[in-house]
Amino acid sequence: MNLAERFDQCTQFLKVWESFLSREPIRNYPNFCPELIEDWTKELQDKKYSELSQIEKTLNLKSKFPEFNELLSQIKTIIDFPKTQINENAILIDQKIKRKKEHEIKQIKSILEDQDEFEFLDFGGGTGHLCENLIHNRNRFGFSIDLDSSFQKSGKLRIEKNDPNNLNKMEFLNLKFGEDSIPELTQRYSKQIILGLHACGDLTPDIISYFKNSQSDSLISIGCCYHKLTTKINLSERATLNLTPNAFNLAARSYAPLTPESLELKIKIRLYRYMLHCFLFELGYKKFIPTGKTRLKDYEKSFGEYAIIYAPDLVQSKTVAQAFYDKITHREIVQKIIYTDIFRGLFGRVIETYIVLDRALYLEEKGYQVEVKEIFDPHISPRNLAILAHQ
Ligand SMILES: C[S@@+](CC[C@H](N)C(=O)[O-])C[C@H]1O[C@@H](n2cnc3c(N)ncnc32)[C@H](O)[C@@H]1O
Repeated sequence: MNLAERFDQCTQFLKVWESFLSREPIRNYPNFCPELIEDWTKELQDKKYSELSQIEKTLNLKSKFPEFNELLSQIKTIIDFPKTQINENAILIDQKIKRKKEHEIKQIKSILEDQDEFEFLDFGGGTGHLCENLIHNRNRFGFSIDLDSSFQKSGKLRIEKNDPNNLNKMEFLNLKFGEDSIPELTQRYSKQIILGLHACGDLTPDIISYFKNSQSDSLISIGCCYHKLTTKINLSERATLNLTPNAFNLAARSYAPLTPESLELKIKIRLYRYMLHCFLFELGYKKFIPTGKTRLKDYEKSFGEYAIIYAPDLVQSKTVAQAFYDKITHREIVQKIIYTDIFRGLFGRVIETYIVLDRALYLEEKGYQVEVKEIFDPHISPRNLAILAHQ
């Protein structure tokens, strides 16, 4: 796969939608839906939840509108990456591990299967599950680096129970990478591999930059929580887009297929959330006011009760709030906002592609051999785009 060509294709595609993607539609109320896509979002609105969840998953929709079909087919092409084989045969030391973690570790284990006599640095290693499994019964040494000492403490206790010998082949380093300096590490083996499994926000660009400045042989990097990125974006020479944290938020949530039931729940939550904003807007509070974390059981209540709970200082009467909600025209507008948002969600994986390819190209520009692959089953672990780089 030619990374630069794919990146350019992705950039040109996103450029057209850059401003639409930069803010959630509700924050642009009452001008939330570009005219071009009004019919398209209406088409999505007419689908059953089961159909909609399939469309989100497969991007297959025989739309009445050729431009909409063309857009979906472009997305499919841009987000199509080679996939590594799923390897469920690897045996992990700890059988009580969560399914997602088990799958991720098995996949990384199989990528490194043929290699021994190396040490690795696992940045953002948490409780050290990956490290423990990679060194167990192998000629390898691992450093698991994390800022959270409580994770590391519980990891050590687990390893002591599983097989204390493994503590001779791995070391926990407690530090905030990017700010604290890394102590001089005694090399056990001459070959070094850098790992970052779901290294959130800036941690992944920091790891990539460390890899570039180190003498390490290889890197396996999988990012997540893109909305936490600060300035460490557009690393490569080709990168030109000004995507916002709001757009990165879409990337962080993308490629996780929802069941029809969870989609229905998501829509129900948005109905109340967006209706509250439209109601407050009518009362004169034009700025979007975040509700913070809400409780699922509050969506079982009437809208009037919900409005009093989440905007107690601004909503005086639950009857007036309920009357606003009951008006059919208000319901129609909010439905339109919701489906504009669902349409916008279709771009999430493309934005992730942009972020990941930018990082990959940066390394390619520095002379590394780089591949980008889907290494996990997206149903189990949707943040599955890995950068595999070698000297
Ligand atoms: C999403 S978790 C991933 C943990 C582990 N790699 C896994 O996949 O289970 C990210 C981890 O990175 C750690 N972390 C985040 N920023 C860090 C930094 N600057 N330095 C060290 N650790 C960091 C967090 O404490 C957390 O354990």
